[in-house]
Amino acid sequence: PYEDKVKELLGRMTPEEKLGQLQQLSWNGDTGPGGGQTDQAEASARAGLLGSVLNIHGAAHTNALQRIAVEESRLGIPLLFGLDVIHGHWTTFPIPLAQAASFDPETARRDAEASAKEARSQGVRWTFSPMMDVSHEPRWGRVAEGNGEDPFLTSAFATAKVRGYQGPADGGELADDGRIAACAKHFVAYGGAEGGRDYNAVDVSEQRLRNLYLPPFRAAVEAGVATVMAAFNTVAGVPAHGNPHTMNEVLKTEWGFDGFVVSDYTGVAELIAHGYAEDGADAARLALNAGLDMEMVSTHVVDHGTELLAQGRITMERVDDAVARILQLKFALGLFANPYADESAEITDPAPEARATSRAVAARSMVLLKNEGELLPLCPAGSGAVAVVGPLADSADLHGTWGGPGAHRFPSVSVLDGIRAAAPDRTVTHAGGDIDEAVAAASAADLAVIVVGEESRLSGEACSRSDIGLPAGQEELIEAVAATGKPYAVVLFNGRPLALGAWLDAAPAVLEAWHPGIEAGHAVADVLFGRVNPGGKLPVTFPRSVGQIPIYYNHENTGRPYDPQTPDEHFRSRYLDLPQGPRLPFGHGLSYTSFTVSAPCLSRETISATALMDDGATVEVAVTLTNTGECVGDEVVQLYVHDVAASITQPVRKLRGFERVTLAPGASTTVTFRLGADDLGFWTNDRAGTFTVEPGRFDLYTGTSSETEDRVTLRVVPD
Ligand code: IFM
Repeated sequence: PYEDKVKELLGRMTPEEKLGQLQQLSWNGDTGPGGGQTDQAEASARAGLLGSVLNIHGAAHTNALQRIAVEESRLGIPLLFGLDVIHGHWTTFPIPLAQAASFDPETARRDAEASAKEARSQGVRWTFSPMMDVSHEPRWGRVAEGNGEDPFLTSAFATAKVRGYQGPADGGELADDGRIAACAKHFVAYGGAEGGRDYNAVDVSEQRLRNLYLPPFRAAVEAGVATVMAAFNTVAGVPAHGNPHTMNEVLKTEWGFDGFVVSDYTGVAELIAHGYAEDGADAARLALNAGLDMEMVSTHVVDHGTELLAQGRITMERVDDAVARILQLKFALGLFANPYADESAEITDPAPEARATSRAVAARSMVLLKNEGELLPLCPAGSGAVAVVGPLADSADLHGTWGGPGAHRFPSVSVLDGIRAAAPDRTVTHAGGDIDEAVAAASAADLAVIVVGEESRLSGEACSRSDIGLPAGQEELIEAVAATGKPYAVVLFNGRPLALGAWLDAAPAVLEAWHPGIEAGHAVADVLFGRVNPGGKLPVTFPRSVGQIPIYYNHENTGRPYDPQTPDEHFRSRYLDLPQGPRLPFGHGLSYTSFTVSAPCLSRETISATALMDDGATVEVAVTLTNTGECVGDEVVQLYVHDVAASITQPVRKLRGFERVTLAPGASTTVTFRLGADDLGFWTNDRAGTFTVEPGRFDLYTGTSSETEDRVTLRVVPD
């Protein structure tokens, strides 16, 4: 829509000013190596040689810098201010992995909408979110930022988050108050880092790229995401920052993405360390020609662009295309008409409504892993004393990784404070991580709540762990409290799936709370005391030990799969020293009430592959969900597909439908899933992109976790 304006402006720009638009500098050095580039940013803005600045917020700050660009540079092109608004700005929400556990994309949309409002009021017009890296690697610290191991679930959350930041697809304008541009990152396959070590290589086949890693990006592009960020890793030997296949061929040509691609920090310069570019000029050439449009922090494009143009190693056409993409977004955001933030309307702390939303989202994201003997929910008015013990019992940093500026300024509510507020009439005592003190407190109380897990700093970028058990001393603490004989519930905080020890078998009740954000303690108490009936499900598999990694539900079969009927058969795919299967499966999560799901019912037993592919034919699978317990509760009905025999072996199950339903006791409802070509087909190894639905048998599983055995069979016939 802004084509004419962009064209007119481009016509007035010098080659240097054009290259300048392709440069982004970092105000402070918070999110990568090297320091801030404050002086350089001011000088470049004044000279009209800068497109964007990241790591800056605050209406007065952004306005001051914007004034330089708009009032002092030759053409007055406004700067675009970007920030990592990942799960909150002032008001931290649960980490994205937690939000995925809600199996309710609306939670992510609410986070994005509230966060966009806060950030935008401070001059931020662009967030580097949502992160949509599907990962099978719990050692990787960045699993906290994504939505787990499934591309279908991640796609739903990616779409919801883009809408939350940018506005509804039908009508909202990026320029509207409270909206910011989103960025689909990291393109692509970053979650496949070998060994879970951050930034590591990813060797991936075309079919796995297209079936596992690309779908959320495609969903984000379809949802209108404004920008995409390249990934630090290599993709089948070619660094993502210089990868013409992923950026030019798939993203821009095949999908028609008309936004721009930004580097991840010094990702352009890193093409040299990767062994892909010889020097800075070569790095700039490779990145630009592969489809990258804006360089973050390193400056090879502006430094070498003129010389590369003169040598014919890059073309003015490519530079113009990149500049046009960036200017187009600046127009769409309304930056030319309204470059400044309204200082009088700036939001500088978490508003009560935002906190309330964060609390609701956090409680909705929690997963009840165990609850034997119905220990939970606790009674707020009960008479017995509660000992709240463990190293994280009074922690006020439960924001998780990438908490935003609010995480540094506003403490999160501790579990201790949350429990005290929820049960004001009960005696609540506290002991920290000292085992003797925890045992003494538990012994003197009627019940213990043990709060353990990872501190926020243990997950996130460059926070890979080789041992994903509970940190040192915590299992011993749980076992020592258990030995007192007092009833106890364990609350877990973590930014990744953990390898939970033997204590899990003995623990009566375990609540997976992830890193819940600013309202952490209140949200935990809401669930522990039954104000909220938990309904979350695991969006990732929990392994038994690190040696089992990668272990994920959507795996392909071997020719000799483990068979539970013949567990001692030797020539089978298994580990000698571990029971088979995960510690906790994808999709698992309990409730304070109970549910039954009927056998699945198919609308038709056969369907034609041609009709699926060419005419958009669909088949429906329906189940009846009944709340058989005594309180209102949520269940997530899940549908998995298995293409039993295909020309490329397919995952034993892949999630293709989920619905979180709230039901009163005794109530029933029918949940219907519609399956089409997208759900029954797959991408082949063709680099040009071939999607096919092959005739044959499809098993469709329905239930409440990925281990359900309830199924119906569908036949896809040739015509
Ligand atoms: O957006 C981030 C990215 O996820 C990791 N490197 C730094 C970027 C900007 O802060």
